[in-house]
Amino acid sequence: MKVKVMVVGSGGREHAIIKKLKENDTIEKIFALPGNGGISKDAECVDIKATDIDAIVEFAEKNNIDFAVVAPDDPLVLGAVDKLAEKNIPAFGPNKNAAIIEGSKVFSKELMKKYGIPTAEYNVFGSAEKAVSFIKQNKKYPIVIKADGLALGKGVLICADEKEALDGIRSIMEDKVFGNSGSSIVIEEFLEGPEISVLAFTDGKTIKPMVSSMDHKRALDDDKGLNTGGMGTVAPNPYYTKDIEKECMEKIFIPTIEAMNKEGRTFKGCLYFGLMATKDGVKVIEYNCRFGDPETQVVLPLLKTDLFTIMRATVDGTLDKVDVEFSADNACCIMLASGGYPTDYKKGYEITGIENIKESEVYHSGTAIKDNKFITNGGRVLGVSATAKDLQKAIDKAYSDVKNIYFKDMHYRKDIGKRALQGEK
Ligand code: AMP
Ligand code: GLY
Repeated sequence: MKVKVMVVGSGGREHAIIKKLKENDTIEKIFALPGNGGISKDAECVDIKATDIDAIVEFAEKNNIDFAVVAPDDPLVLGAVDKLAEKNIPAFGPNKNAAIIEGSKVFSKELMKKYGIPTAEYNVFGSAEKAVSFIKQNKKYPIVIKADGLALGKGVLICADEKEALDGIRSIMEDKVFGNSGSSIVIEEFLEGPEISVLAFTDGKTIKPMVSSMDHKRALDDDKGLNTGGMGTVAPNPYYTKDIEKECMEKIFIPTIEAMNKEGRTFKGCLYFGLMATKDGVKVIEYNCRFGDPETQVVLPLLKTDLFTIMRATVDGTLDKVDVEFSADNACCIMLASGGYPTDYKKGYEITGIENIKESEVYHSGTAIKDNKFITNGGRVLGVSATAKDLQKAIDKAYSDVKNIYFKDMHYRKDIGKRALQGEK
């Protein structure tokens, strides 16, 4: 039987998911809501916003969609999967009551504390006054301040001293720079160590972690500049040793799934563990209720098992029956961003050279088509992702392909994978 699939979202992550789904030939058609210029070459883009849940459900019903993938955090937190299920449309992703694991940092911190899952020490504040008086007593810097709700990956401030911390509290809680997501804040201990991202498929009973990866969150080389959605990734992450993998499974992954079940919030979909390997063991920095971006652009190219089969098993609760296999290769993805990202940047510049890329996959994050040409249409524009037998080769291949692409004010980091190479055993 041929099926129709709908993917909600519009970035490089969604492009990577769509390209992988296309390998399954029972899928006759893929729609992307809303997709983007590049995605339109691989799926039919429909002009419905990822947060317009009613329109998404209506579209799915009218077009007899057999299976949906809800990729971004906001529609998940808004309950898109629940609403689709009400109309008997199976959808990959957690229900609203489980997506809160990303939707509220206060929830996720309290969950970890209650179930003994290792994370940074923290305090929660619902008023600026109490947070200010806490900071005035605090002696240890840097300290980390996080807005409770979703903030496009930017709601985290690492404050070097008291002044920065007080300014941070004011901007989040009083000036509301992250909107309502800053009504409550978490102030937490600053942790040190290499960061590791692990995405895992789970149906609430079985958890199958994917190959590990490493994101590069800061805008500039050597981890300088502002935090971004992610400027590049490599997989696997060499700091994720066999011992660490075992520790994570026992102390973090399984306990998290069990904790969510005990709370009556069974998590199904892709659970993202943002981890830090500290000298006191691995700790959870954050959970995301979805695939990471640009982690997906290095993880899925290494996936050997059919993605659609895994996704259906995740929804059906039969993930224990599927072997999730990854190739032993390495992957590297370089994000090409608009000059000025993550703050102000211009859109609409013509992109040239994509057609010359032969060795890497090019995933479109923020592009549109004008007069039959690709133009920039977002902060992160393209992800150039290469795989090879070893990490150095994957990095070299991706960077050599990047040289073929041009758009005005294009910015990318030159050191993606540098830290990972230092960690190679
Ligand atoms: P998050 O949005 O929670 O992933 O935070 C964004 C980034 O801030 C993380 O990837 C880390 O690099 C950094 N970060 C968050 N929490 C901490 C912490 N407690 N200690 C050190 N760095 C942190
Ligand atoms: N790359 C980090 C994230 O997807 O949240």
